[in-house]
Amino acid sequence: MTANGRLEHPKPTQGRGKPAPLLLASGLIVAVLIALGASVWAGTGAKPDAKPDAEASRAAFLQVYRVLTSPRCQNCHPAGDAPLQGDDSHVHIQNVKRGPDGHGLYGMRCDTCHQAANLPGVHMPPGNPKWSLPPAKMKMVFVGRPAGELCRQIKDPKQNGGRSLEALMDHIANDDLVGWGWNPGDGRTLPPLTRAETVAQLKIWIDGGAACPK
Ligand code: HEC
Ligand code: HEC
Repeated sequence: MTANGRLEHPKPTQGRGKPAPLLLASGLIVAVLIALGASVWAGTGAKPDAKPDAEASRAAFLQVYRVLTSPRCQNCHPAGDAPLQGDDSHVHIQNVKRGPDGHGLYGMRCDTCHQAANLPGVHMPPGNPKWSLPPAKMKMVFVGRPAGELCRQIKDPKQNGGRSLEALMDHIANDDLVGWGWNPGDGRTLPPLTRAETVAQLKIWIDGGAACPK
């Protein structure tokens, strides 16, 4: 019995023994990749393997909120009907108004001054082919909105241009006009997070159920 057992034992052990290091190694690689991914995406010490919970989700939104309400973003998302300018978000001079389509009123259209790209020099008009405010019928106001309110607003398709959470993320990750915020021309400060960091926080927010602060 004992002899038999000893004779037979090595077989299955060997059989299991071979793939085990491989499994271990691939498991390790996956873990390292996840950890790497998490640190690149989140830039925080968030648990790499667990799905973000509501608390992590709310915390991530607060990071995104810092970007949304930074001058480069909120200057085009004002509560009133004029764009804002500068780091102090003062009302746009020259009596520029939103107009129904967000591109200004007749005779004072945005593209009269704003070109397809930034003009070099401090206080020169920044540029993008789509340069405008959101339209009058959907103003997408960021200025003055408390975090919880803005959180609920930007995930509401009735207020965000009919976007799903994925479309919202895609807009912030890839839209060229949003991208201007991180390439704002001479003399303008950048949002507090990089675009990649912002998208990483958005992902945590969405993966954790797009939870909103109170
Ligand atoms: C030059 C003006 C301008 C700037 C600067 C700008 N936006 Fe916008 N934003 C718009 C316009 C116009 C729309 C509506 C276009 C659409 O729905 O496709 C919009 C829509 C959005 C939306 C989708 C609607 C919503 O409220 O959920 C988000 C999110 C957004 N912007 C985020 C940003 C962020 C983040 C920045 C800064 C990095 C930024 N925007 C800077 C003009 C601007
Ligand atoms: C008469 C020319 C003119 C018109 C028309 C005009 N702008 Fe401007 N705009 C400027 C100039 C010049 C600047 C740069 C000011 C500075 O940097 O001090 C500017 C800056 C801005 C900024 C500030 C960017 C930042 O983050 O500081 C926003 C936002 C803006 N314009 C939006 C618009 C929108 C939207 C329209 C159309 C509804 C428009 N502008 C029409 C000349 C104009």
